[in-house]
Amino acid sequence: MSEQNKNRATLEEMLAQAMGRAFVAAFPDLTPSNISVTATTQPEFGQYQCNNAMSLAKQLKQKPRDIAQKVLDSMTMPASIERIDIAGPGFLNIHLESEWLADRLEQAGADDRIGVPPVGSGRTIVMDYGSPNITKPLHIGHLRSPNIGSAIDRMYRFLDYKVIADNHLGDWGTQFGITIMGYRHFGDQKAMEEDPMQELERVYVRSYENSREDEEWLAQCREELVKLQGGDQGNRRIWKKFVELSVAEVDRLYSRMGVSFDITRGESYYHDKLSATVEALESKGVARESEGALVAFLDEEKLEPAIVRKSDGGFNYATTDIATVMSRVEEFEPEMILYITDERQQLHFRQIFAICRKLGHDVEFQHVWFGLMRMPDGVIKTRTGGAVKLEQMLDEAESRALAVVKESSPEMDEQQQKEVARAVGIGAVKYADLSQNPQSVVTFTWDKAMALDGNSGPYLQYACARISSVRDKYSERFPDTDPSEFPIVFTEDIEKMLAVKLLQFPETILRAARGFKPSTLTDYLYDLAQTYSTFYQNVPFLKAEEGIRESRVRLCDIVAKVLRQGLSLLGIETPERI
Ligand code: ARG
Repeated sequence: MSEQNKNRATLEEMLAQAMGRAFVAAFPDLTPSNISVTATTQPEFGQYQCNNAMSLAKQLKQKPRDIAQKVLDSMTMPASIERIDIAGPGFLNIHLESEWLADRLEQAGADDRIGVPPVGSGRTIVMDYGSPNITKPLHIGHLRSPNIGSAIDRMYRFLDYKVIADNHLGDWGTQFGITIMGYRHFGDQKAMEEDPMQELERVYVRSYENSREDEEWLAQCREELVKLQGGDQGNRRIWKKFVELSVAEVDRLYSRMGVSFDITRGESYYHDKLSATVEALESKGVARESEGALVAFLDEEKLEPAIVRKSDGGFNYATTDIATVMSRVEEFEPEMILYITDERQQLHFRQIFAICRKLGHDVEFQHVWFGLMRMPDGVIKTRTGGAVKLEQMLDEAESRALAVVKESSPEMDEQQQKEVARAVGIGAVKYADLSQNPQSVVTFTWDKAMALDGNSGPYLQYACARISSVRDKYSERFPDTDPSEFPIVFTEDIEKMLAVKLLQFPETILRAARGFKPSTLTDYLYDLAQTYSTFYQNVPFLKAEEGIRESRVRLCDIVAKVLRQGLSLLGIETPERI
């Protein structure tokens, strides 16, 4: 990567800056950074438009069209812009220079980063996702945090941030009291050896049911937890065994999803730091005694108070999270800490962030929350009432995909069919989740997830594979021609449209990462694939004359490169052949 390409502005930023300069040249009191541009949807309006002549009319006390005209009159046109039209009430429609675009696209095509600026410059971010409460089996409600979290993680890493991904396991909570109690009373050694996860689940479920009917049982579960946290040797031994088994199980499922972490530190890791945490809160005046408990009052922040030490001396979820922040800040010195959990934890994190700010931490805190994932027949429930296990969902995805692959590629050998089906099935599930706005309730349906003709993972994976085969056909027919010896040229509008879409990859990644929204990227990829398909269906390819043909091959190559890179940032594999 040349120096010049490092930290290069995206197309959008570059045009916004050019327009900013033009606005200030015409109206010196304006601030250039307040001027922005947006991509247009129809080529007759150019490729970008600027609407500030309208939005600034009041402030400048002039008619929008007059403002637009003055801006154009005082503008020195950069090489990137062919012309700017004033349209309607005062839109500035920017038409980009074809040769300039082609040149920029050639550079992006030759760049590993496809023009995405490494804006992170190695700065550190801690991301807390996955983080399930263990010993209980993972159900489909456990899909979204590791899935959305790892997509955001990959985008930030690509932007050259140093990401510390931490799987903050719930390994210290009430479920351990329940499981230990159950294990002591009706644990089955033999079953535990044969199928530990199943036995753990059986023990947990039965003990949990007891605890709901029987107060005495519940009290004893609590007692077991207190013993564990107090350091009781026997309970610690059982706990350790359960944690090891559960972590291996979580890792196994996460790795099927292509999700991995830099560190896996459960809540237990912070246990020894809780007293000191609470002391710091007290000595800095962030928390004070109230009815026997130690409480952080957050009136100024208009939040409910948070108990950091219960009247029985016990600590809670909030205390652990405060200790976790302190530990992360000290160890990693991050510029941001990001949490990805479901919507039910919004208040919790607002309280934690407020408390940590009072403690003087000036890290940026972000809570990315998401809505529940539903199945059409109810919230994450099967017909028999139990939650659909994550494992079942992944299995079903792979077997559905296998049926599709067998039909589309009967000649492929069975092992390869299975491998492709794995990538397609898992990709379908992940994409179905990622393509939704995180902050909405998602209803998962197999038809939509697997659709070969809609906004789905398989659709995009197929698009990549189809481009590869077009490329192969070209190489077969013209084995001695090297397309890169021919320049990219636009002879049809659709080619220019496609080029602009491709050059919008960098700004899309920035927007998706900064907004913590993988769906910004999926929308873009789907749109790109559709633009490609319009291009492919409407212009001759192999039959085009030499030069134009090679330019089109080069466009294809860059489309494939962007689609594969984009999907890989979402944690979705793209098999060469499907
Ligand atoms: N274990 C929690 C749960 O399953 C999520 C933990 C999120 N991270 C955190 N630092 N609190 O709901």
